[in-house]
Amino acid sequence: MAGFDERESAKVNAAEAAVKLVKDGQVLGIGSGSTVEHFIRLLGERIRKEELEVYGVPSSFQSYFLALDSGIRIVGLDEFDVLDLAVDGADEVDSDLNLIKGGGGAFTREKIVDSAAKEFVVIVDWSKKVNRLGEKFPVPVEVLPFAYGYVCRRLRKLGGEPILRKAKLKLGPVISDNGNFIVDVKFSRIKDVKNLERDINNIPGVVDNGIFPSSLVDIVFVGYSDRVEILKRE
Ligand code: A5P
Repeated sequence: MAGFDERESAKVNAAEAAVKLVKDGQVLGIGSGSTVEHFIRLLGERIRKEELEVYGVPSSFQSYFLALDSGIRIVGLDEFDVLDLAVDGADEVDSDLNLIKGGGGAFTREKIVDSAAKEFVVIVDWSKKVNRLGEKFPVPVEVLPFAYGYVCRRLRKLGGEPILRKAKLKLGPVISDNGNFIVDVKFSRIKDVKNLERDINNIPGVVDNGIFPSSLVDIVFVGYSDRVEILKRE
């Protein structure tokens, strides 16, 4: 069994592969999560050593503060509607490069930033590879608090089992960076990834969900403790 350190070094290796893609003057979409945290730190080192100017649109408060500390110049989508490159993590990657994201609750902004980029690069450790999407991870759904009960009923009609995400260091539900609830929905089998993403988003009161269809993804760097596997869309 691989230990914690081995998984952490796998994340670093995937992050390193993505950092090499960044060029001076680029505008980046910056994802969220512990693998992206390595990416931001390593990019900060390049910025200092090579005196690069790199601009970034963060997808969460987490990546906003990390990017600020790393010397990435924070910009917004009102200034740059097309980003050169987005780098983000994932919770599951299937063999077609469909993703589930949102373990950190940041998927709504992540999908915006990742979709706005000319190139979207995913960085994961090996444990995120699955045969079938939804195998290990539920589909996170961001919901307007007003619509919570209604949305849960509609999600059950789609075959899901919704569970309200609870906060750990606060009483009650997790509140997203956008002020909404997160519902984690377990599906026993996801037959059609694209249709499910669309059907969930068609429920009034849903802001977005954590299914990222492969059409968004360009490259996945899968880190191992001693190497990086590169997966590209066919
Ligand atoms: C944040 O909401 C997520 O989409 C993350 O990108 C995803 O959970 C991966 O996070 P880790 O790199 O921490 O596993």
